[in-house]
Amino acid sequence: MSRLTRAVAPPHVVNIDDLRRLARRRLPAAVFDYLDGGAEGEVTLRENCRAFETVTFRPRNAVAVPHCDFRARVLGAELSFPAILAPVGYSRLMHPDGERAAARGAGRAGTAYILSTISGHKLEDVKASSSGPVWYQLYLVGGREAAEAAIERARLAGFSALFVTIDTGTAGMRERDIRNGTGELMSGDIRAMIPHLSQFLAHPKWLTAFLLDGGIHKLPNIVIPGHGPMSLINVAAALADSVVTWRDFQWLRVMWPGPIVVKGVLTGDDARRAIDVGAAGVVVSNHGGRQLDGVSATLRALPEVVKAVDGRAEVLMDGGVRRGSDIVKAICLGARAVLVGRAYAYGLAAAGEVGVARALAILRADLERTMKLLGCISLGDLDASYLDAPPGWPR
Ligand SMILES: Cc1cc2nc3c(=O)[nH]c(=O)nc-3n(C[C@H](O)[C@H](O)[C@H](O)COP(=O)(O)O)c2cc1C
Repeated sequence: MSRLTRAVAPPHVVNIDDLRRLARRRLPAAVFDYLDGGAEGEVTLRENCRAFETVTFRPRNAVAVPHCDFRARVLGAELSFPAILAPVGYSRLMHPDGERAAARGAGRAGTAYILSTISGHKLEDVKASSSGPVWYQLYLVGGREAAEAAIERARLAGFSALFVTIDTGTAGMRERDIRNGTGELMSGDIRAMIPHLSQFLAHPKWLTAFLLDGGIHKLPNIVIPGHGPMSLINVAAALADSVVTWRDFQWLRVMWPGPIVVKGVLTGDDARRAIDVGAAGVVVSNHGGRQLDGVSATLRALPEVVKAVDGRAEVLMDGGVRRGSDIVKAICLGARAVLVGRAYAYGLAAAGEVGVARALAILRADLERTMKLLGCISLGDLDASYLDAPPGWPR
């Protein structure tokens, strides 16, 4: 067993929170808080996790479950278990191998990886790293021409679904980033960086790896015609200038021949709109509590969306998944599968691909144990009768 594998094995790492603790230790505050934090008072960030705790199980005991069937069919791909790696922007900051390590970890675990537009590695390299399905998440940063070029590259490279994120009308207010001087640290302007640099110096191992990797890279998948790849520092402003609207989907459907999934749906109305514009799926998501603070936990929003979709599209959800039992609860309430963001990103930050593999192994083992203890043989048999939700919860 390698030193790195040992570092994320029991007794050091038993659950996702242990990976979070390791990530916190390895990363400078600015990078850890970028990964861990949410918007404004972080109410929605906390609620996403709390909602899973509020819903309790109703097991069927004295039932033998020798083998469980965890396979899930999502967007035409067969996944070994129903947890997909969510797009996590600029994962290369967490680990030099970043998006490539995450994609490789997903493929080896038999599941899918969704690559963010805000990636530090070329989309072609990320696709080549994975033996599993890889999907592309689109922001319109850089304008339609830049997006068209990326979509075409993604299609040629073999990405098989397009996730369009709709909850970034402007950048969320991440108070931790302002306090840490994250923008200044990413600016490359040494005078602006100096007051905040001590965070980097306090984490020499991370800093060495970061410098050997060449520091902050330009974004190789956002290529502005006539200018070249966009700089990371310009992303927040570019996001505000490039809001996706329902009208854009007409153009996107012409550009992208495969399935389109709308990420960031929280109401039945938006779910119906997504279907009207041709979406094959929706992700019930509040961006992990990083955009509009004060929206409801995604687990709470899920039943309304499932009802509105009424089987016409695939419903995925994300936000707050830290245990396999959370995945089971989301499926009981109608999700086909979940996306996990921080759960694998903590692993990536802690130990690169080995950490991603460990995060996915933890979730999978949790899932198997939960199904056995619930007395349920197949994910297809899960429904709301296995849960008790507090009064007032939509069913
Ligand atoms: C550090 C970080 C960066 C993210 N970047 C993106 C992104 O580039 N595009 C996107 O659609 N969602 C992005 N998200 C949101 C995730 O895709 C996902 O919706 C969210 O992380 C789910 O919540 P969880 O982290 O509690 O699992 C990001 C999330 C985090 C934590």
